[in-house]
Amino acid sequence: MQVPYHRYWFTEAEEQAVLDVLRSGWLTTGQQVKLFEAEAAAYKHAPYSIGVASCTSALFVLLASLNLGPKDEVITTPFTFAATANTILLNGAKLVLADIDPQTLNIDPSSVAERITPNTRAVVCVHVAGHPCDMDALRALTEPHDIALIEDCAHAFESSYKGTPTGLIGYGGAFSFYPNKNITTGEGGLILCPDAGLEGRLRRLRNHGLDFDSYERSKTRGYKQYDIMELGFKHTMNELQACIGRQQISRLPEMTRRRMALVRRYDDAFAANPHLEPVKPLADTVSAYHLYIVQLRSDAVAAHRDDIVADIMDRGVGLSIAYKPLHLFTYFRTQLGYQIGDLPQAEAAYQRVFSLPLYPLLSTEEQDYAIEVVQTVVAQYAG
Ligand SMILES: Cc1ncc(COP(=O)(O)O)c(C=O)c1O
Repeated sequence: MQVPYHRYWFTEAEEQAVLDVLRSGWLTTGQQVKLFEAEAAAYKHAPYSIGVASCTSALFVLLASLNLGPKDEVITTPFTFAATANTILLNGAKLVLADIDPQTLNIDPSSVAERITPNTRAVVCVHVAGHPCDMDALRALTEPHDIALIEDCAHAFESSYKGTPTGLIGYGGAFSFYPNKNITTGEGGLILCPDAGLEGRLRRLRNHGLDFDSYERSKTRGYKQYDIMELGFKHTMNELQACIGRQQISRLPEMTRRRMALVRRYDDAFAANPHLEPVKPLADTVSAYHLYIVQLRSDAVAAHRDDIVADIMDRGVGLSIAYKPLHLFTYFRTQLGYQIGDLPQAEAAYQRVFSLPLYPLLSTEEQDYAIEVVQTVVAQYAG
């Protein structure tokens, strides 16, 4: 049997929506984006939401709104995708990597505390796998110093922390609708923010600093000249992305039901396995469970992680490894001076983890096969 690591789920509803947009005569940011923003905001109980081209765009725009300069420091985790750190560097700030909590794999507030200086302007936390970070601890560190707490919610659209939806806990949240995410718009992203003043600024930064976009212009009499208010970049979402996103949001309850049933089946299957430890969310949080990450418990078994992953994949089960810590990559070592040993918890976690297939279209037969292959292969190396 072949069990792919990921499959996205489109129905005739998405296909029809795309056709309707193609025939509508309007492709760039317009009515569909407005409706998508409203429907995403309703789902997240958010006062403001802004559709953008990707989560990378969302992070970039949120950071740009802080007007960072070379003296400014932004703290984030190495246990993430490149986008989280790249957008900090591309905004001209100094990147400061903090270590992670080995239980949740999220940024460790005590490591953040050690790195805060008078130049710290922001902390970007990542809700890895959809499991919310320890936001009380991060807020306690950032709020007294007026440090912006930005949430990278690429994995965490459906997540909440102590009843508050992710993305609305700090300064703003950045969401991804990349094809492998829980819902997808092909490529796409969203910004949530709790502040009306900030919303207007983010909308301008999304679109070249213009005071209004071409859709708004099309609704007025005569030629309405835009003004350029400040420097901005092109991070807009288009109508094709938005119309797909609207259908995905409307089907999200069904997708979540299926995803969580699969999570419970994995949890049950691995509960008695002495070699595997699934990464679990903190108490009093809801996780989107974008990833199902397992850690190999003992050092002896973890030493064979790459062979275990290769053997499982040889038997037809797709896996992924999230994440190789950023500071171990060439650019971060050679250009930013990071070294092996700088962030020991992130490095240790990297040696132990792999992620299993988890998506609404995964059948129970496929999941049972994946479970059986994982348990068998791990037992061979433990044995
Ligand atoms: C944690 C994290 N942040 C940011 C991103 C960037 O998302 P996008 O591809 O939508 O720009 C990703 C993408 O996989 C991610 O996993």
